[in-house]
Amino acid sequence: MNPESHCPLLPYNTFGIAARARALVRLRGLADLEALWADPSLREADKFILGGGSNIVLTGDVKPLVLKVEILGRRLVAETDRHWIVEAGAGESWHDFVAWTLEQGWPGLENMALIPGTVGAAPVQNIGAYGVEMQDRFHSLQAFDLRTGQTFTLEAAQCGFGYRDSVFKHVPPAPGGYGLAGCAVITHVQMALPKAWRPELGYLDLERKVAETGVQSPTPQQIFDWVCAIRRAKLPDPAVLGNAGSFFKNPTVTPEQCADIIARDPKVVHYPLHDGRIKLAAGWLIDACGWRGKTVGHAGVYEKQALVLVNRGNAQNPCTGGEVMTLARAIQTSVYERFGIRLEMEPVVV
Ligand code: EPU
Repeated sequence: MNPESHCPLLPYNTFGIAARARALVRLRGLADLEALWADPSLREADKFILGGGSNIVLTGDVKPLVLKVEILGRRLVAETDRHWIVEAGAGESWHDFVAWTLEQGWPGLENMALIPGTVGAAPVQNIGAYGVEMQDRFHSLQAFDLRTGQTFTLEAAQCGFGYRDSVFKHVPPAPGGYGLAGCAVITHVQMALPKAWRPELGYLDLERKVAETGVQSPTPQQIFDWVCAIRRAKLPDPAVLGNAGSFFKNPTVTPEQCADIIARDPKVVHYPLHDGRIKLAAGWLIDACGWRGKTVGHAGVYEKQALVLVNRGNAQNPCTGGEVMTLARAIQTSVYERFGIRLEMEPVVV
């Protein structure tokens, strides 16, 4: 197995940052992982696992060996009384997989249409949108352990799913005893799609679509089309304007902290959670600090959604990961100074 050297990563990160991998191997199936394991120099090397590159900020050339996951394939694995169990290779495009399941007549993923990235990256950050998260439809995944050379299966309960979080984001040993960041390559993901399908229309933007169209009982395909339209209206298409989706997580606070902020900023957008805490809209906090539409160097804050940082550079004047991080830190500082809240970054900084 011969790694490609000095491989440009510009096409492989949706922020569109120019950086190179010192060495990169493409993984198209289990045989490639076994070949990697069989080569002592590759087996011992530090590694970085790259999916669709839609949740990373590259701050320089990548020194660890880059494993680019390109495992394809989609199939119905099993049908039970209650579910269709559908599998996709980790290198499949998430959105294409969602569209395909709907074409086959297996609904359930429509609220997560148009999320950039690959199927294999989806469980890593427990992707979610418009009221549905990966963990709500997840069945299991197969992965290759880079420490032992063995494949293994994880069920939902073993994945440590949380808000934009899973065991794959934690360096071993994580609190609770386990962490798999950098140690395992997800090869296949299986989703359990419910036969007793019900529309998930609780998110405000979808409630508005119901009101606008008068369609009270939309089909899965209609929800898919609505979600695509909502996303296209407020989120930049990475093919046109580089970005990594939401740049910060929505923070949670205690009711007392929230009351304190409301006393000063009555319009703060907040939602009660089941555990009694309150989620604040990070986009609103950033917007309230005046960042929406601002540009610093070649990195900017998207004018229609302040939670999204964008690449304002071009071929002659490229945006660097350093500029993105400078802007991100400036935003964190002003949100902290005004609201006393520390925003946590969502993408992985490499
Ligand atoms: N808002 C503002 N100003 C802004 C941006 C937002 O006032 O500049 C307010 C909006 O008016 C709205 C609220 O903030 O009332 C929430 O905004 P939005 O509905 O756009 O959702 P979000 O909380 O900003 C989250 C996810 C998105 C996901 C949407 C829809 C996170 C970090 N982000 O965004 O996920 O698509 O909800 O479910 O949880 C991603 O993770 O990359 C991502 C795009």
